Amino acid sequence: MKIGVLGAGQLGRMLALSAYPLGHQMRFLASSEEDPSSLLGKTYIYDNPETINKFFEDSDVITYESENTDVEILNEIGKTTKVYPGRESLQYTQHRGREKALLDKLNIPCAPYKLVSSLSDLKRAISSIGLPAILKTTKDGYDGKGQFLIQSELQIDEAWEAMSGAESILEGFVNFKRELSLIAVRGIDGNLKYYPLVENSHHDGILRLTIAPAQNVSMSLQKKAESYMNSLLTAMNHVGVLTIELFELDDELIVNEIAPRVHNSGHWTIEGSNTSQFENHIRAITNSPLGDTSAKHQFNAMINIISKYGSTNKALEIKNAHLHLYDKTERENRKLGHITITSDSLEELQSSIKNLNEYLP
Ligand SMILES: Nc1ncnc2c1ncn2[C@@H]1O[C@H](COP(=O)(O)OP(=O)(O)O)[C@@H](O)[C@H]1O
Ligand SMILES: [Mg+2]
Repeated sequence: MKIGVLGAGQLGRMLALSAYPLGHQMRFLASSEEDPSSLLGKTYIYDNPETINKFFEDSDVITYESENTDVEILNEIGKTTKVYPGRESLQYTQHRGREKALLDKLNIPCAPYKLVSSLSDLKRAISSIGLPAILKTTKDGYDGKGQFLIQSELQIDEAWEAMSGAESILEGFVNFKRELSLIAVRGIDGNLKYYPLVENSHHDGILRLTIAPAQNVSMSLQKKAESYMNSLLTAMNHVGVLTIELFELDDELIVNEIAPRVHNSGHWTIEGSNTSQFENHIRAITNSPLGDTSAKHQFNAMINIISKYGSTNKALEIKNAHLHLYDKTERENRKLGHITITSDSLEELQSSIKNLNEYLP
C-alpha cells in the first residue's frame, strides 16, 4: 500500500524503515526536503494546497506523526482517504483539558487539574489545588515545552506570562515513585496487543533513558495499566499505536498523558521486541495481523542523544548496542538519535549504560 504520513520527522523515518520490508511505499507531507524522513519516500512540501491534494491522492491510507495535527485537515482527508488513528483519537489527545475529561469519564485516575484562561483563573485554581503545581498550555506542548513549575505564590505572575495568554491547565504536582509508560496497538478489527510496561527517566521534561521491561512490575500493576489502555482504546475507537504515560505512586497508578502514536519510550522495541512499535503501527493501519509484542531479551535500555551527537562511535563498539541517528543538525534540546542496548544480564546492561554516561544528565 501507499502509506502517507503527515509530518516527516524521526517517527516517520522509523515508520518507513519498518514499512519497506512489508512491501509498502511511503509518502510524506514535509516542511522541507531536509526533514529526517524526506529521503525515505516521496515527499510533498506543504507550502500550497495543490501539493497537499496530490499527497492525499497519492496515499491509500494516511497516518500522522504528532497529536499537534489540525483536526480540520483530518476531516478533509477523511472524505476521500482512510486516516488512522481517526478524528476522535486526535481530538482527545491534542488538548490536555479534553484528555483529562475523558480520563474522568472512564474513571481513570490523573492529577488534580483546573482549566485556566486568565490570571484570576490561575489564582483560583492554585487556591483549590495548592502548590507545587505545573501550569501547561492545553495544546501544542512536547518535551516539556509550554510548562511552568510553580513552587511559590511569588511565581504566579511569571507563570501566567510564560503561557503568552494561551488557554492552559493547572495540574497538581505528583510526587511519583517512578514514571512508566504503556504502549499498545489496536487493529481495524479491534484486535489488540500490549507491550510490557517500561520505566522512563526525564530531565527538564525530556526523556533521557528508558528501561524495558520496567523492573519490579507486579502482574497486577501491568494489568491495571492494560485496563486503562483498554478503556481508552475502546472509547476513542483507536486504530494504530497508543501510548499512556503513567506516574507510579506507592499504591496508585495515575495517568500523566496519552499520545495517539508511536512514542520515544517505545524505540527500544526496534531491536528489543519481536515486533517493533513502528511495524505494529504499520500493520494496524494496513489491516494486517498484529505482531507479537513480547521482549526478546530480559533487559533493554534506550538512551536518547539530545542536543549534541557526542562520541557515537562508542555505541558502535559496544556489543548488543544499536545506534539510530535521525539525520538532524545539532540544536539545544533537540532529539538527534537514540541508542538501544539489549541484554540477558542486568550487570552487562548496567555496564553498557555506564559506558554511555555522557548521554545521561
Ligand atoms: N503533574 C505533574 N507532576 C509531576 N511531574 C510532572 C507533572 N506533569 C509533568 N511532569 C513531568 O514533566 C514531564 C513532561 O510533562 P508532560 O505532561 O508529559 O508533557 P510533554 O507533552 O512535554 O511530554 C513528565 O514526564 C514528568 O516528568
Ligand atoms: Mg509527556
